[in-house]
Formats: sequence, C-alpha cells, structure tokens
Amino acid sequence: MARRFFVGGNWKMNGNKESLEQLITILNTASLDDQTEVVCAAPSIYLDFARSLLDPGIGVSAQNCYKVAKGAFTGEISPAMIKDCGADWVILGHSERRHVFGESDELIGQKVAHALESDLGVIACIGEKLEEREAGTTEEVVYAQTQVIAENVTDWGKVVLAYEPVWAIGTGKTATPEQAQEVHEKLRAWFRANVSDDVSESLRIIYGGSVTGANCRELASQGDVDGFLVGGASLKPEFVDIINARA
Ligand code: G3H
Repeated sequence: MARRFFVGGNWKMNGNKESLEQLITILNTASLDDQTEVVCAAPSIYLDFARSLLDPGIGVSAQNCYKVAKGAFTGEISPAMIKDCGADWVILGHSERRHVFGESDELIGQKVAHALESDLGVIACIGEKLEEREAGTTEEVVYAQTQVIAENVTDWGKVVLAYEPVWAIGTGKTATPEQAQEVHEKLRAWFRANVSDDVSESLRIIYGGSVTGANCRELASQGDVDGFLVGGASLKPEFVDIINARA
C-alpha cells in the first residue's frame, strides 16, 4: 500500500494569537491535497487555540513532551495534557531539543515510549551535524539515533521518522534531492535489516531542513521521501504549496 504523504509544520517558538489565526485562516480556506496528511505543531501554550481554530482535517502536534504522565516537573507537559487539548501528535528528538537543550538519546527514547503508550502519534527526528557529515559518519549517526528510537517503539503505525540534517535546518542550505533520497533509502534498508520488511515498506520517512515552496516538488519526487517537516516556511502562505507538493 502506498505511503500517505505527510507534511508537518513546526511553528517552533514563533507567532502570537493574531499571526497564528491569520495563518490558520489561510490553511483552512486553501485548497489542500486530500492525499496529504497535514499536521501543525504549535507551541504548547497555543495547542488548545490551534486545535479550536484549525480545520478538523488538519492535525495538531506538540513540539515536545516529558516522559511521564504527571508530577513535580516544573515547566514540562505530558502526553495526557497534549491529548486533553485535542492534539494527536508530538515531535520528539528534534535537533533543537538535542543540541540546544541537551536531550540525550536515552531521554528521547523514554519520551517516545511514553508518548506511544499514551496513544499519541510521534514524529521522531534524527539527523547528523555538519561535522559528522564531513567526517563521513552520517549513516553511523542516524542509525544510532534510529536504533534508540526503535528500541522504544511498540506500534510503528503511530510513528513518522523525520530525517533532518542539522546543517540544513534554518540555514537555507537544503539537502539536494539526491542527498535526501540517499539517506532515506539507507534508513529504509536499516529498517528492513533491523525491524521488519513490513515496517520498512510502510514507515513514512519525511525530510526536514530549509524546505520551501520552491524546492519541495523535486524533493517530493524522490521515491523514499514521504513528506516534510517544515520550520520557517510553515509560517508563510507557501506552506500550502509544500502541502500540495505531490498534487
Ligand atoms: O522542524 C523543522 C526543521 O527544523 C526545519 O526547519 O524548515 O526552518 O529549516 P526549517
């Protein structure tokens, strides 16, 4: 069965009620490819707001969560709270969580396990830094990150894997379609060897890193690129073009 194209908009720590409402109006009134699954990742304080305004056909995601359901963890949010706001997804392991906030593979794995137990979908992120790519260790890095995620996944149907080379995030240096396809293809082979043929065939592996309305179609034409995780451009009207990249 064909993998359904998946486009996530990661708003990161941007916007306010006024600007997000304008963006949501654009999305709600645009003609969006109904073959594409669309999910918007709002700042946690705006999850409820985004869910109440976005068309029900567009999913809502949190950008992070903690590894347990509740307790004395000041400043954190739990999957149960995310679900209570009507959101169905959470991004975990984003490079900004890994490299700005120092999240370890172990913590990310624990978060993945708890989010899935709580019935949230997980957009699990992996990706190498520039120095790792230049040192020729891209595969080693992304396989190791994927391994820890895989050890914590109980239901692959609830997971989307986002390959986001750190050097391409917010830099305007998009991976070429060939670079993206090469890593996605290798990841799919990794799943065939380490998880199962079924998961390798069905898992959506999406690309993130300076995706724009201008480069999305060529990236989307690659056989193993099943969608995008979009940062900057998800805050602009061109996000509609990215959603429609396969239309
Ligand atoms: O989560 C999204 C990625 O970090 C990509 O961000 O599209 O601004 O490069 P970007």
